[in-house]
Amino acid sequence: MTMAQTRIMPDNPYLPSPARIEEVRVETPDTNTFRVVFCEDDCREGFVYRPGQFAEVSVFGAGEAPFSITSTPSRPGFLEFSIKRMGRVTSALHQMIGGERIGVRGPYGNNFPVGEWKGRKLLFIGGGIGLAPLRSAINYCLDNRADYGDIDIIYGARSPADLVFKPELERWEQRSDMRLHLTVDRGDDEWQGRVGFVPALLTELGPSPQGVSTITCGPPIMIRLVLQGLEQLGFRDEQIVTTMEMRMKCGIGKCGRCNIGRSYVCVDGPVYNYAQLKQLGSEL
Ligand SMILES: Cc1cc2nc3c(=O)[nH]c(=O)nc-3n(C[C@H](O)[C@H](O)[C@H](O)COP(=O)(O)OP(=O)(O)OC[C@H]3O[C@@H](n4cnc5c(N)ncnc54)[C@H](O)[C@@H]3O)c2cc1C
Ligand code: FES
Repeated sequence: MTMAQTRIMPDNPYLPSPARIEEVRVETPDTNTFRVVFCEDDCREGFVYRPGQFAEVSVFGAGEAPFSITSTPSRPGFLEFSIKRMGRVTSALHQMIGGERIGVRGPYGNNFPVGEWKGRKLLFIGGGIGLAPLRSAINYCLDNRADYGDIDIIYGARSPADLVFKPELERWEQRSDMRLHLTVDRGDDEWQGRVGFVPALLTELGPSPQGVSTITCGPPIMIRLVLQGLEQLGFRDEQIVTTMEMRMKCGIGKCGRCNIGRSYVCVDGPVYNYAQLKQLGSEL
């Protein structure tokens, strides 16, 4: 994995940079996407990130939490985070509206190996909010379309209401230079697409592993079954990349709260291939 350039405040690495929420988009009943712009020019210019990295987002008075950067560096000027309401910090964020201030520090962690993927076919497999980190890499590859072979996305959620990025899914569906395979666990009166689980759709599509890199993120049960499915299709562990969302505190390798074996996810991850995870003894 390549380690992207990381910007750390020289004096106090825990000090967030002030940023303004520019737009809040409601994705699902429990997930909003926040478009964020740094208040100061030097922060905006100094925040150089790669797809797959994350940032610590803070709400004054509530605390901070790590989130994948779902925007792509190929569309500069802002950052986007898609955030599911879980507890203290995420609930405080869900109360916020455009114009309000938050703090952002990062970018942290390693990144998807978008350079190594050049010339290869890409198969993204996401479930629910797990599409958030994948979206950064997907849009990066689409913005550099000529560098990559076929692009396939398998994406599913519990119900049509739980699918994130719906306007973008429609745009991806209409493109002739990629394929989007959507599914939901349970349909509703209006849903005319596939019904079924993501791992079952993977098996049904049966992609050949030849020249393919695959990237997966979603609920742990989905990832486990997707990994089994990929192994049965003949994918090697090195061809399969995932991104881990362990509990974190400092985000910068100091507190020791985020380890898998001897690896600190906040520094060595969150992106790992399956061979690395097996070596670390991860129970995926
Ligand atoms: C690298 C990384 C990237 C992430 N990207 C995203 C993202 O793009 N979008 C998003 O919505 N979330 C993401 N998360 C998860 C997010 O950080 C947690 O949901 C958040 O910290 C919860 O904070 P809270 O204060 O709202 O919840 P808390 O009040 O701390 O906890 C509420 C509940 O959530 C559980 N919880 C807290 N953190 C985690 C976690 N990391 N994994 C599983 N359960 C947890 C707690 O056990 C508790 O039950 C990411 C996590 C990491 C480490
Ligand atoms: S979160 Fe502190 S070491 Fe990783």
